[in-house]
Amino acid sequence: MEEHWDSHAALAALAWQLEAGVTDAVCDDPVDRFAAAEEAAKAAEAAAPTGVQMPQKKAAPPPKIAEKDPVVEAQEAANACHDLVSLRSAMERFDLCHLKRGAKQLVFCDGHPSARVMILGEAPGRDEDREGRPFVGRAGQLLDRMLAAIGLDRQVEGADGCYITNVLPWRPPQNRDPNTQEIAMMMPFVQRHVQLAAPDVIVLMGNISCQAALGKRGITRLRGQFTQAFDRPALPMFHPAFLLRNPAAKREAWTDLLTLRAHLNERAKS
Ligand code: URA
Repeated sequence: MEEHWDSHAALAALAWQLEAGVTDAVCDDPVDRFAAAEEAAKAAEAAAPTGVQMPQKKAAPPPKIAEKDPVVEAQEAANACHDLVSLRSAMERFDLCHLKRGAKQLVFCDGHPSARVMILGEAPGRDEDREGRPFVGRAGQLLDRMLAAIGLDRQVEGADGCYITNVLPWRPPQNRDPNTQEIAMMMPFVQRHVQLAAPDVIVLMGNISCQAALGKRGITRLRGQFTQAFDRPALPMFHPAFLLRNPAAKREAWTDLLTLRAHLNERAKS
């Protein structure tokens, strides 16, 4: 009887979650089921009744595998890339960021690298993960309208174009914020990406992007003031997803777009 009610309650809870729009059954961090199985086997062995002789295996010395430092590995991989095609392949091969395991694909860039403006967003969401391009969901559509308002278009090459990427190339589970280790290990790739695209200006979209590029958060204070990131001018701005939730902040975003336009008008592409 008990079991009968439990299964009904579990089914009802699942149906409720589906209705609420839950699409993924994931935790914040991946679970290593192999490690869990080994732990369970060890626990069973320890709990075996006395008198029962477990086969005594001589423990083999653990294989000597050097712990890889993901930041060092990323730095070496990124340094070896001399164009954007090889950078993309190097990132596709990079296995030390566990976000990769939960994502459908790498989201590398959109737009044309000949653009003067490079946008650095945070991380792909569900739509970007599905399409393999950054900023294609609702926030991306708002971004396109913002860019159009100052004569920029990601579909166009050259001075009126816009090149777009993210700090993280893989979607974090349930769109949570990437943590500091994840950001640190992907930064060598972001840095190399900026060097190879060589934009005149970088727009830092939101707090995660500011944290990654400037080492600080506080977008409300940082926005609208030109600073330096990756050895070039950088302008922090409100993230379009924030503007969707806080339409009143579009006023400041418009001021920042005009600041960007004025900067571009004053300086010709070097
Ligand atoms: N938000 C981001 O920061 N990047 C994307 O690609 C999509 C949404």
